[in-house]
Amino acid sequence: MNIGILTAGGDSPGLNAAIRGIGKAAIRSHGMTVIGFRDGFRGLMQNRHIRLDPESLSGILTAGGTILGTSRDKPYRMNVGGQEMDMTGIMMETYEQHHLDALVALGGGGTQKNALHLAQAGMRVVTLPKTIDNDVAGTDVTFGFDTAMNIATEAIDRLHSTAHSHHRIIVVEVMGHNAGWLALGSGLAGGADVILIPEIPYRVDSIAESILARQAAGSRFSIVAVSEGALSSDHAGELERLREIRRNSESDEERDEAKQRISALKAERAEATHALSRELEERTRLESRVTILGHVQRGGIPSPVDRLLATRLGTATADFIAQGIHGVMVGSRDDKAVAVPLEEVAGKRNTVPLDHSWIKTARNLGVSLGD
Ligand code: F6P
Repeated sequence: MNIGILTAGGDSPGLNAAIRGIGKAAIRSHGMTVIGFRDGFRGLMQNRHIRLDPESLSGILTAGGTILGTSRDKPYRMNVGGQEMDMTGIMMETYEQHHLDALVALGGGGTQKNALHLAQAGMRVVTLPKTIDNDVAGTDVTFGFDTAMNIATEAIDRLHSTAHSHHRIIVVEVMGHNAGWLALGSGLAGGADVILIPEIPYRVDSIAESILARQAAGSRFSIVAVSEGALSSDHAGELERLREIRRNSESDEERDEAKQRISALKAERAEATHALSRELEERTRLESRVTILGHVQRGGIPSPVDRLLATRLGTATADFIAQGIHGVMVGSRDDKAVAVPLEEVAGKRNTVPLDHSWIKTARNLGVSLGD
């Protein structure tokens, strides 16, 4: 059997461990031939590939990033020479030229959608769930999340001592896209005093009150962990109203207007952490500083938990392909590798349920969630 591997979307710690797991199991246990396409779906379109043999798969377990390179390209809306084009057919040609029995795409939510699209076009595709955001449906967890949570937690630990010394508020922005797993997990593990996540719209007054209450009780510093997707309740309400118009309005003009306003609100979100810090300064009269953790959360050596998860799912992927299973994502449920149909995964997002134990834990501790 012949298989191709590609990594797509934002990179994530554990990608190389997964490539190694798939490749080694495919070659050793199933006698398959393995190639890797460079830079995600773009490399598949351009037929840029390398042979993955035992030698090239060796020594990569602990390496960050992806040895194959990645991109955020979509097969059906690819920028080619400045024009958006559907390149699905060209990708099918590359796939057939290599006589592939399966294409393995390692990626997050966007990749699951792209993979389903290729599967519907006739490709035998298998995916793996990677992202630091932990927001892929159909799996208990994604690889990359644990490493990013370690990095964000360490940053919050370090911010504590400087916030404490200067009697300051430090607002630390954590990645996670539109899911609060990373901010909530690292905020709890790092002992943040306020944790703001997209699933719970916040009120600045409520956050300021909790900081002032801490001050009154003798704690003259506060750490606010804010997810990059967290929204104020005004912002969240306006977004919901505009989305409703975009979905249901019968007027083209109204829908276009709503679309533009949604883009403008998203741009405002990019500035929201700084705005929040300024507003907290005004309301509490405490000095406030912002730390944006950014891409440092995605870089470097994967944690043992991510290496293990990626290796487990990677080797299981080779087994599923050998059994002729495709059109699935290989996820982890109760510590077991399971093949979940792509239809059950694509287009869905795993956000933090409001009754999740991490939310209850935060409330029990007296951590403000901004509501
Ligand atoms: O999906 C992973 C992620 O790191 C998100 O947390 C973040 O919103 C996004 O990617 C950043 O994307 P880019 O690397 O394209 O700036």
